Amino acid sequence: MQIAFLVAKCRRAAALLSLILLLPGGVLDAAHPEAVRGSGGAVASAAPSATEAGLEVLRAGGNAADAAVATALALAVVRPRAGNLGGGGFAVTRFGNEVRTLDFRETAPAEATRDMYLDEQGEPRPGASLIGPLAAGVPGSPAGLYELHNALGRLPWAEVVAPAIRLARDGFTVDRRLANGVAEHAELFGRFPETTAVWLPGGQGPAAGSTMHLPDLAATLEAYAARGAPAITEGPIAAAVELAARRHGGVLRAADLAAYRPVWREPVRFEAFGWQVASMPLPSSGGIILGQTCGLLERLEWAKFSRFGADRFHLLVEVWRRAYADRVLLGDPRTSLASAAQLLAGEWLDFRADKIRLAKAMPSDRVRTWSRELVAEPVETTHLSVMDGDGNAVSITTTLNGSFGCGLLVPGAGFILNNEMDDFATAPGQPNLYGLIQGEANSVGPGKRMLSSMTPTIAWRGKEVIVIGSPGGSKIPTATAQVLLNLIVDGDDLQAAVDRARIHHQWMPDLVFTEAHALSPETAKALERRGHELRLVAGVGEVHSVRGEIGGEMQAAQDPRGPGTAGVVHPAVD
Ligand code: DON
Repeated sequence: MQIAFLVAKCRRAAALLSLILLLPGGVLDAAHPEAVRGSGGAVASAAPSATEAGLEVLRAGGNAADAAVATALALAVVRPRAGNLGGGGFAVTRFGNEVRTLDFRETAPAEATRDMYLDEQGEPRPGASLIGPLAAGVPGSPAGLYELHNALGRLPWAEVVAPAIRLARDGFTVDRRLANGVAEHAELFGRFPETTAVWLPGGQGPAAGSTMHLPDLAATLEAYAARGAPAITEGPIAAAVELAARRHGGVLRAADLAAYRPVWREPVRFEAFGWQVASMPLPSSGGIILGQTCGLLERLEWAKFSRFGADRFHLLVEVWRRAYADRVLLGDPRTSLASAAQLLAGEWLDFRADKIRLAKAMPSDRVRTWSRELVAEPVETTHLSVMDGDGNAVSITTTLNGSFGCGLLVPGAGFILNNEMDDFATAPGQPNLYGLIQGEANSVGPGKRMLSSMTPTIAWRGKEVIVIGSPGGSKIPTATAQVLLNLIVDGDDLQAAVDRARIHHQWMPDLVFTEAHALSPETAKALERRGHELRLVAGVGEVHSVRGEIGGEMQAAQDPRGPGTAGVVHPAVD
């Protein structure tokens, strides 16, 4: 059901994109918004009121961490299909020269088992890892956002939560995307009276342009503002989560919420085209895929090929085919069968680059995943980007996984639970919601973190800083990589880099997904002659990005693929 909805959504977005992506060579027409420019800080996110929440906190003297948390919490109110208290995510931060990452990814509940999504015959139970609380991992956002502020924030915690409380309590204007999203998920919500009561009272979802009040969520946020994460992970709200989960056959327990801890991790770091890059390590595959992409493209001298010709697209596909093949080995860092050090080792990248041919596609079923034997020597859904006036940067990608997660709203608490358990390899050999085939390292196990593709990233060169990331399931690393390459290889302006049409490949299925007009007809034909099968797709990611020079101008760009906005602070005026 969710998959049918996703297909319908793709078709609509494809129609929209084909209207706006008119020029050949992947260049958008000129009717698109310009990046906004200022010098006191910059925010780009998926909703105008969330971007405004971040800007408000910057103007009040908050730093990038304060503004990022305020933006994320506002998204939890106005963008409930992805922004969340009931999900999880990742943050990459750069304060001064210190680069850190915070993993607030969901974990499998203590009662989760390897075969929990299979029937007695060992066959996958349809929808079991997607719908209802059995699909929900232990939410990481409440403790994660609180920890991010605790470690790096400057303003009092309550001031950072205040804009989200205001939106939930005083109401916010429902945009068309939210109104349509609720209507399209009526069948999912209809399974849960708790969700229906808030989002479809009397069978009717909120109309676009109407004002939505979320008093239960406001009360939850007020408690969170007063007492921090324990207000949600312990006491009556955690008990309400357990009760709702039990009522609908879930195994999520209050004890899981109390035991949850976010983890600070060393970023995946690499150098690419003269820039330093820091991205998310396991349990996200995003940083490794981005690092392999850049490392292989440099070896293949990608920058020297004609910008919109078949050679560049061919090489991107060949690189991603191999990076996503290696992804099969990845999982929670405790059980992963390969590490970032192994997969980004020079010997391995040399070996991979050496096997890539310019004239011909390599069928995916002939691409082997990383193994020690293959190398000569043993070696290893919503995104927001913020910079403050000092050049400190925070890149957060946070998700419920599917749109509106598992569909169950926790009564009284007002937030929807995720369906992140589907990011595990829930059934051997079966693709997940994003068509990813996953491996043993990512099997379900109590307390394990499910493998992600989220790629919050910060890149810098001297005083220049780029903050970037995207939603889009399996397409997150490839969307992020393409915008980054547009900036650091081809020197695009920020908005042009974000606007430009994109492609995607993920090893299996062996298809090149292309946005309308990403490839000129000649390039598309040339790729087909080399053995690539092309498939039109609605959109590849939705990249919200900011860039700036420390002590100089900052820019923020919204992605025209979504309803997001970008804003900046002008110190003299604001
Ligand atoms: O962690 C992941 O890779 C997925 N749960 C992300 C889902 C996503 O991006 C959905 N948004 N389009």
